[in-house]
Amino acid sequence: MNRDLVPVRFVGVGAAVPETVLSNTDLSRIVDTSDEWIYTRTGIRERRVLLPQESVVDLATAAAQGALTMAELAPEQVDLIILCTSTGIDRFSTAPYVQAKLGSPWAVAFDLGAACSGLVYGLVVGSQMIQTGLYQRVVVVAADALSRVVDWQDRTTCVLFGDGAGAIVLEAGAGDPGLLATELRTDGQGGHHLTLAVHTQAEMLATGIPVGRYQPQPLVMNGREVYKFAVTAVPEVIEKVLFRAGLTAQGIQGYFIHQANQRILDAVSERLGIPKTQVASVLERYGNTSGGSVAIALQEWIRQGRFQTGDVGILAGFGAGLTWGALALRWGRF
Ligand code: ACO
Repeated sequence: MNRDLVPVRFVGVGAAVPETVLSNTDLSRIVDTSDEWIYTRTGIRERRVLLPQESVVDLATAAAQGALTMAELAPEQVDLIILCTSTGIDRFSTAPYVQAKLGSPWAVAFDLGAACSGLVYGLVVGSQMIQTGLYQRVVVVAADALSRVVDWQDRTTCVLFGDGAGAIVLEAGAGDPGLLATELRTDGQGGHHLTLAVHTQAEMLATGIPVGRYQPQPLVMNGREVYKFAVTAVPEVIEKVLFRAGLTAQGIQGYFIHQANQRILDAVSERLGIPKTQVASVLERYGNTSGGSVAIALQEWIRQGRFQTGDVGILAGFGAGLTWGALALRWGRF
């Protein structure tokens, strides 16, 4: 890392999930599946889903509030909000809704995509804003309501996802860097394996949908291909980040990896040669909550005292795009 850059501090984390629980047994009444299949293939027992009157903005705001509380900062002090989402409520931009609800009138707010890699992408973008001296305090929120975009008739996808949000507060510090190394990757050639697409104009004309009547399509995934991609790509970026930061896999206090499948988390720990207990997992209770899952896992470990100020962690995301990435950070105002 360039020592002339303003050092970043990661000073607060928050998480929010809806109250409503949907268990594997509940799902077995909707599609042809079972608790046994879902748990053994994924590690998921239940997930949370938004009720019709609830919004992804509520989740994002609650996660941001939690992160600011931990950071002992007021919403008015925030300079920038990056909302990482694929399920915003306004295609122009959903971040301003969060800015208004949070009460951060001075904050610039914009959306960032990158699906399940969103939080990691957002943290790298937010860090740059601090490192260059443009902003002092940044909130990166990843929030998705995938329950609103899955096909509830498709058992190969609807059992995997849940709604949730996670947020991390970054601020300008002094002294040693808090962001130790990063690596972001994109491979558009593999994008067709996981999509949340809209009809093309040609498809709309062919099917008689009036131009302008936007038709969102449900989430479609080739699970086997995404699985193969994840178990190779994620360890690669983590190893690169470890190398750049001059760290060893064993010297890391916590791995916070996108929560998609316990088998993926186990494969990554095996590849890195670390015990499974070093890799946070909240999959069992929340399923795949998209970009927020990394922060939800981090928040749980911090609350439990398993990850503390001065500890070094790896955050890694992967998903649609295809996108993936990792970063190494030293936590807190150390
Ligand atoms: N219940 C019961 N049976 C099922 C279910 C279900 N919910 N879903 C699929 N099956 C069946 C299939 O039809 C198949 O039957 P067949 O052999 O008769 O054809 C069988 O189970 C095996 O299916 P596979 O797809 O081979 O199962 P696999 O072991 O690969 O697990 C899974 C599927 C869990 C989706 C896995 O591939 C996976 O986790 N992939 C990665 C997903 C991921 O990481 N996504 C992250 C990105 S998310 C984002 O960015 C938004």
